[in-house]
Amino acid sequence: MNRPDSGTIAATEPLFAAHGISKTFHKNSEITVLRSINFAIAPKEMVAIIGDSGTGKTTLLHILGTLERPSSGRLIYRGKDIFAQNDKALSHFRNKTIGFVFQSHHLLPEFTALENIIMPGLIAGKKKKALLGRAEELLSKMGMAGRVDHKVGELSGGEQQRIALARALIMKPALLLADEPTGNLDPGTGRRVFDLLTEMNEIFKISTVMVTHNYQLAAKMDRCLKLDNGKLTQLNDFS
Ligand SMILES: Nc1ncnc2c1ncn2[C@@H]1O[C@H](COP(=O)(O)OP(=O)(O)O)[C@@H](O)[C@H]1O
Ligand SMILES: [Mg+2]
Repeated sequence: MNRPDSGTIAATEPLFAAHGISKTFHKNSEITVLRSINFAIAPKEMVAIIGDSGTGKTTLLHILGTLERPSSGRLIYRGKDIFAQNDKALSHFRNKTIGFVFQSHHLLPEFTALENIIMPGLIAGKKKKALLGRAEELLSKMGMAGRVDHKVGELSGGEQQRIALARALIMKPALLLADEPTGNLDPGTGRRVFDLLTEMNEIFKISTVMVTHNYQLAAKMDRCLKLDNGKLTQLNDFS
């Protein structure tokens, strides 16, 4: 079982483990957003992170996703100290291991759904044919097979978020990071995108961290953590 222990959240045999992650931004003034956070996620586990606006949820996801380096602390993946690598190795690791879904889909509106989905694979130098096969598999699992040639600018918000999810999964990541993926959607559409996220987790056995303000969705995940004042704690009371 996972128990909070003075801010320590541990999962057994973690896939990813963050140790003592802190982040301070230096702009006009100094702001410390994360204070020695410990976090671990097991293979296939789904973890929700809840917290007020501005508490540092996106910053934490960016660090877990290696988009940003912490001020201090380490990220361990399969025994390896990830931030010990240079930026080039880090971006290679990120591309291979981590999928992102953001609140706004960040798709390229002038490209088709299929082109958007295979883009990370093309950047990684994968063969187009294999990528197209994988993309079509993902789209058919998502009930989107008929929409492959549509430009994403012509799709609805819910469809765009499904395409963004397919793009996040094209490289078969071990970890999926979703930052308020249903935040811009109406409740029904948000619910369907969330159901798809859990379905994809079932099928592909991907560890998932989802930031959300929706307590109902958070309660459906394996664990729910709350970020407050730079610390993560286990959330058990959803009232
Ligand atoms: N690049 C940055 N430079 C300076 N401050 C930042 C930067 N990114 C985030 N912050 C600040 O860190 C705090 C947490 O931001 P964020 O992680 O986006 O919170 P959340 O996602 O929980 O709303 C905010 O006060 C924000 O202004
Ligand atoms: Mg945010």
